[in-house]
Amino acid sequence: MTTSIKQLLIFDAVVKTRSYTRAAEKMKISQPAVSQHIRLLERLAPSSLFDRKGRDFQLTTVGIAFHQHVQKVLLHYNNLTVCMEEMRTVHKGNIAISAATTANHFMAHMLADFSRHNEGIKFSLDITNRASLVRQLHDYAPDFVVMGEPPEKLNLSSEIIMRNPLVLIANAKHPLTKMSNIVLKDIIDEEFILREKGSGTRAAIERHFKKKRYRFKVASEMGSNEAIKHAVEAGLGLSIVSLHTIKLELEAYKLVILDVKSLPIMRDWYIVTSKGKRLSPAAKAFRKYILEQAPVYIDGYKQYYPSSS
Ligand code: PGA
Repeated sequence: MTTSIKQLLIFDAVVKTRSYTRAAEKMKISQPAVSQHIRLLERLAPSSLFDRKGRDFQLTTVGIAFHQHVQKVLLHYNNLTVCMEEMRTVHKGNIAISAATTANHFMAHMLADFSRHNEGIKFSLDITNRASLVRQLHDYAPDFVVMGEPPEKLNLSSEIIMRNPLVLIANAKHPLTKMSNIVLKDIIDEEFILREKGSGTRAAIERHFKKKRYRFKVASEMGSNEAIKHAVEAGLGLSIVSLHTIKLELEAYKLVILDVKSLPIMRDWYIVTSKGKRLSPAAKAFRKYILEQAPVYIDGYKQYYPSSS
């Protein structure tokens, strides 16, 4: 026979109320049920748990030792239920997320907003490029990954968060800013600054030009969108970047989106999890939050979004 938590709670109630009747009331069961559970517990003990003298009873030496252990078990049991409750109400927990370098801006904002309402949740956010995210998904590392395009060969589940237009940018003084309906042929002699190999943005640009049968000149490669923005702003060349990385520069008129016929390259942002990975309530809540907030975030870019998107 095994002892149940319920039996331990009944025993504890009898000890604390010193009465089978009050213990029965406290546990919301009948008095005979209390007696039955105590009898079952006593079968486990080497001798009686209580010394009975008429209606009065005291814990025996065995009963005292037993009760000390029961209290420890019930304390752990209580901690367990509290912990489960906290996890259910999503105010506690750790979330490990990895996101594409290019998603850094919106992820940081969404994370900050979510954290303000969920102070007990601790985050780790790894910002890295697509190649490294694919490796992480392979190893089941993060709770989820935010990236453009889930890799096809892995067993993943993914949800689209929002659109991700890749736009051609120049500094505000560039002669092309005065032109409209630019075609790819007009820009193939321009110097391009691109992200490092392994970047999803870079791969999407290369695919797009290949499909259109155009080549472009790579003047330099840079490992971050920040570096690219500074380089373009300084006049080192043009670049194609996610619209979600350049809001401040557009507002300050430091960078300009060029009006090119076959651009933007329309991509999507995804939340990706390894199939079979069980998300904690906190991670689930943050994923839901990202999906809910995406339209609000997109709204802030409305004026810059190409009409086709
Ligand atoms: P990246 O991200 O260019 O920063 O690698 C975009 C993506 O995941 O496709």
